[in-house]
Amino acid sequence: MELENIYILAIESSCDDTACAVLHNNVVLSNVVATQKIHEEYGGVVPELASRAHQQNIVPVVDRALKKANVTKEQLSAIAFTAGPGLMGSLLVGVSFAKSLSLALNIPLIDVNHMRGHLLAHFIKDGETPSPQFPFLGITISGGHTQIVKVISHFNMEVIGETIDDAIGEAFDKSAKTLGLPYPGGPLIDKYAQLGNPKAFPFTKPRVDGLNFSFSGFKTAVLYLVQRQTKLNPNFVAENRNDLCASIQHTLVAIILDKLKKAVAQTGIQTIAVGGGVSANSGIREMLKSTEKRFGWTVHIPNFEYTTDNAGMIGITGYYKYLNKDFSELNISATSRAKI
Ligand code: KG4
Ligand code: ZN
Repeated sequence: MELENIYILAIESSCDDTACAVLHNNVVLSNVVATQKIHEEYGGVVPELASRAHQQNIVPVVDRALKKANVTKEQLSAIAFTAGPGLMGSLLVGVSFAKSLSLALNIPLIDVNHMRGHLLAHFIKDGETPSPQFPFLGITISGGHTQIVKVISHFNMEVIGETIDDAIGEAFDKSAKTLGLPYPGGPLIDKYAQLGNPKAFPFTKPRVDGLNFSFSGFKTAVLYLVQRQTKLNPNFVAENRNDLCASIQHTLVAIILDKLKKAVAQTGIQTIAVGGGVSANSGIREMLKSTEKRFGWTVHIPNFEYTTDNAGMIGITGYYKYLNKDFSELNISATSRAKI
């Protein structure tokens, strides 16, 4: 088996993005994502519609990824796909497609855990940006996840903290909804937060043991504040939009920083690698960068296209599994609650 010229085609379909990437070893040649706009009308991802959209998108997305990479199907060494966690109906589209393709081309099939993918995205060769040194603390923050993971090697990872209810992206999006902003509201909170006073509305931070997170109480606190104040002044939200956004963001950023400080103290590891859509947030980015000077941490933030759900991260994880000859059987199935 030749180990220098590995071409992996990777498929990611765990939620509402249909994605395909083609990699040559650890270099991403193409990274195509079809984002499903349909969910915007519903204010959140509708699983049944997501599954149907994946079925429509998958063939053109795979086609485009191969063309962009200038790689033929016959050159491929293996097919990697997301086996979980995620929405069952969405995962099944990717799993079935990956199985058929590997069978038709007679090449290995590699199942990839989506959360491992987020963490190993840092090992995609992307210009001169160095990859994190082991061990590091990976923090994945998105619409579906909030998780701190001790990453000991490419294959040895341990979840040391996670949310016990909502993900941080939901806290952003649901707070935005309370303020009357469209879905997904996270980027809009970020935008208006730049114009407001982060101390205007002090929200209490949830008290959760250890390194776990909770965001559902925060979301309710925002709702109650808005309901209470709107009774007194019907224009409350309009008149205080920027201050509300700045205060919401300030609190969410502080929650993340608190837990990271605890995780560093507990593990002695000072290298942090962040991933997930919420890592686009400017408050989170500034806070993370500031820790390099304040505490001497080393922080890795990958290129935006590899932080949100993408197939490049599934491909790089598939690449490492390929090197280990860690292939899946054809009877493998998707697991919506797959553990890291
Ligand atoms: O990783 P992602 O694209 O999809 C998954 O949830 O898996 O993350 C989407 C989440 C949404 O909740 C969105 O509001 C949030 O990331 N997001 C942001 C920002 N950009 C995206 N939240 C806050 N500030 C941003 N700039
Ligand atoms: Zn994700």
